[in-house]
Amino acid sequence: MLRSSVEFIQLIEDDLVTAGGKRIRPRLALLASQALGGVPHELELALAVELLHSATLLHDDLVDDAETRRGREAAFRKYGNAVSVLAGDYLLSRVLFLLSETGRIELVRLFAEAARLLAEGEVLQFQAAAYQEYSEAQYYRIIDSKTAALMRAATEGAAVLGNADPSAREALARFGRAYGMAFQMRDDYLDLMGEPGQMGKPVGGDVREGKVTLITLWLLEEKPSLVKEVFLRRAGREGDVERLRELAEGSGVARRVVEAIRTRVREAVEALAPLPATDAKSALEALALAELQRLQ
Ligand code: IPE
Ligand code: IPE
Ligand code: MG
Ligand code: MG
Repeated sequence: MLRSSVEFIQLIEDDLVTAGGKRIRPRLALLASQALGGVPHELELALAVELLHSATLLHDDLVDDAETRRGREAAFRKYGNAVSVLAGDYLLSRVLFLLSETGRIELVRLFAEAARLLAEGEVLQFQAAAYQEYSEAQYYRIIDSKTAALMRAATEGAAVLGNADPSAREALARFGRAYGMAFQMRDDYLDLMGEPGQMGKPVGGDVREGKVTLITLWLLEEKPSLVKEVFLRRAGREGDVERLRELAEGSGVARRVVEAIRTRVREAVEALAPLPATDAKSALEALALAELQRLQ
């Protein structure tokens, strides 16, 4: 799927693929398929979801001015903005091709909706920063759009391909969405509270980018003046990130965020209840529970 006769495209795609990533989205798609006893075109679905994800990463790193991705220098730093944006578009063209291979217009519609939400979520995040509009509702809307929508397309897509009955389809859609929310919430939590050695990147990246997430939103309520100052100088003073980490621990905000993630994980696991007990269903549950283990 990623073979191109254009060398610049090939270089970027090879880089992304060999760097790996966790490949959680294709796993979601394949497990959802197995939970339904196997569905036609599951590989096309799994590939489409991972390639759409990879395209968003090429674009996301550029708009976030990120330094690294998957432990390597971000593509736009290596190859330039133009080439990496266009290589992302190339990936999108492969996604469309894969979806068309399934012959299922309903799957195309599902992905069209996920891609729309993804773009909206990414822009909404910038709009929220521009208007300084921060609220819990806004945070959840952003992560629902930019992250959970695609996870949901991965699991619900399997239901579409398998012509699953409405209750199974709803179960998989709800699981993908709740799991996606928990996934992004865990990612955002660790961005501030993770162990610097284990992250492969410095902690506090979101604060330096001026990105307010659930944890900093609640810290703002706790100690508005300190948190605003740190955000205004983009954590530019020695010990700024440390101060936020200590405040999060001392005020109980860190614990509350972990509880909020636990609630989403529970929601994801409970969503699967209508599906029959299978190894694949247990594996999906384990995937959701692993989000909590990754917090320790
Ligand atoms: C990164 O996704 C973007 C987020 C939604 C946080 P992943 O953490 O799944 O990235 P890879 O694919 O494993 O690199
Ligand atoms: C993830 O968003 C990218 C998308 C969901 C499109 P972030 O910008 O929050 O994630 P990282 O930190 O770059 O992986
Ligand atoms: Mg980013
Ligand atoms: Mg981003």
